[in-house]
Amino acid sequence: MIQLENVQKAFGNNRVLRGMTLEIKSGTSMVIIGGSGTGKSVALKCILGLIQPDSGKILVDGKDASTGDRDAFLAKFGMLFQGGALFDSLPVWQNVAFRLLRGSLKRPQAEAREIAIEKLRRVGLKAEVADLFPAELSGGMQKRVGLARAIAADPEIIFFDEPTTGLDPIMAGVINELIREIVVEMGATAMTITHDMTSVRAIADNIAMLHDGVIQWTGPVSKMDDSGDPYLDQFINGRAEGPIEAVR
Ligand SMILES: Nc1ncnc2c1ncn2[C@@H]1O[C@H](COP(=O)(O)OP(=O)(O)OP(=O)(O)O)[C@@H](O)[C@H]1O
Ligand SMILES: [Mg+2]
Repeated sequence: MIQLENVQKAFGNNRVLRGMTLEIKSGTSMVIIGGSGTGKSVALKCILGLIQPDSGKILVDGKDASTGDRDAFLAKFGMLFQGGALFDSLPVWQNVAFRLLRGSLKRPQAEAREIAIEKLRRVGLKAEVADLFPAELSGGMQKRVGLARAIAADPEIIFFDEPTTGLDPIMAGVINELIREIVVEMGATAMTITHDMTSVRAIADNIAMLHDGVIQWTGPVSKMDDSGDPYLDQFINGRAEGPIEAVR
């Protein structure tokens, strides 16, 4: 579903992606790990076509992401942003139904609201929450609303950027489980960026570690613990000593 081939991207002298190659098969869940500033978000933006790579190739569902109808292209994606990124001035249901109220996915208002309430239920929130504003919700509830928004338009591909950051371990577990369930029942292709190793084990079919601008290791999550890769070992065990320099 998603293919990156030798993707390079530099900002001035800062060579961030130095030949990133990665394949995410349809209906599978890929988790990208890697140190802060290694280019995980840049890679995600390249796939979405928000950043143009300097060279290399990106295909989504076999099509070149940088050409064609942007609106139709973006309609394939759902996205859970880091920190939720809800619109403060809109009630919860309008946040969830945001894409169903405008653009090519536009539905009548009553229908959009109904879908929003159904998606809120799916993430464990009651219909009453629909008319509250984001500021009236806890962090965990905001994450759920963000998740409901990500799935509102039944996307083929869902991106999760740090889905559990800032949540207590139990709420993080709940969100991880929800993500796993939703991806499985929708048959969606998922790409998650996270630092949370519990998330990795809960969400991933496959993992890929980005380091020095390339995918240092990729494979099924079951092989992660005995990969024999010193970079991956250091990262997943959170060791200060190893080939990855802690100070950057
Ligand atoms: N628009 C931009 N212009 C210039 N430099 C950028 C831009 N976007 C990202 N960078 C640089 O690219 C590098 C990778 O950034 P990126 O946000 O992808 O890191 P990350 O792996 O997502 O880190 P984190 O885990 O902290 O979110 C950083 O050095 C950053 O400064
Ligand atoms: Mg990032």
